[in-house]
Amino acid sequence: MNGHGPDDARRNTGYDEAGLDLLLRLLHEEIGLNLRQYKPNYLKRRIGVRMRATGCSDYLQYRSYIKQDPQEGGRLINDLTINVTEFFRDQDVYEAIRKQVIPQLVQYKREGRMHSLRAWSAGCATGEEPYSLAILFLGALNAEKDPRSWSLRITATDLDDKALEKAKAGRYETVKTLPRIVLEDYFAREGDAYVVKDEVKRPVRFMLMDIVKNPPLRHLDLILCRNVLIYFEREKQHSILEIFQRCLRPGGFLVLGKSEAIIGTGESGLAPYCRRERIYRKEGVPFRGMSRGGAEKQ
Ligand SMILES: C[S@@+](CC[C@H](N)C(=O)[O-])C[C@H]1O[C@@H](n2cnc3c(N)ncnc32)[C@H](O)[C@@H]1O
Repeated sequence: MNGHGPDDARRNTGYDEAGLDLLLRLLHEEIGLNLRQYKPNYLKRRIGVRMRATGCSDYLQYRSYIKQDPQEGGRLINDLTINVTEFFRDQDVYEAIRKQVIPQLVQYKREGRMHSLRAWSAGCATGEEPYSLAILFLGALNAEKDPRSWSLRITATDLDDKALEKAKAGRYETVKTLPRIVLEDYFAREGDAYVVKDEVKRPVRFMLMDIVKNPPLRHLDLILCRNVLIYFEREKQHSILEIFQRCLRPGGFLVLGKSEAIIGTGESGLAPYCRRERIYRKEGVPFRGMSRGGAEKQ
């Protein structure tokens, strides 16, 4: 096999495996967790995600990074062990999105005669989150007078390319949180699996993207970033929240995970909308003559 640069050369000589071995030994000694209990491919993929997030190009560089920033070991562990997602994860949150957030967004756009809705699912994993959102939006838009006049775009991003591959395929064996009516309307049965129908796939665009990099997204109506911020330390969380703040239009919504919260909302410009469900709203009146409304004020 021909190599094409230092990475190939290292891989061919086993250098990569030796680096991984040293990295795992360090984690075992420092954190006390034997990561060798995981399947090698799974382990490498998850470590690869953290390496891309921290800008490290090989295991030895990543090992040095962990030595300098001991919290990184914890983030890697979180990433390895909490890689779960599901359709409509936390049903109360999705009920609040369905009953409070989406109707506000649709009304705002209808009154402003701007029939386009833009959302971002940041850290979308295997796609259940953006597809759940698409299903809710489609339900609302199909009830509008002229559904075909609306355009819906959900950008779904993650660092994990394998997860994104699964997301794009939209084929799921586990759909336990989905009611039968949703399965019938929005999924096709293929053997043991359920495949997301084209109507649900069409508005969702998947992209490999690091959340900490400034994304080319602006004037968004809604951002979901659930169970991702927990991987980052406080300072990084703040800069990510600043990115969200910049990407949202005034009056746009941000939804975090149930165990995540914005502390010191005054500075972030994101005010609580549904506190328990971790829904926030960017401050500023969307346009003149429109009242902002809000669950907390009702
Ligand atoms: C626990 S899953 C959450 C999935 C979904 N948001 C949910 O709540 O069900 C966390 C996801 O965040 C992704 N992630 C971690 N760090 C990231 C980063 N820097 N940029 C983009 N995605 C990241 C992981 O790859 C993983 O797919």
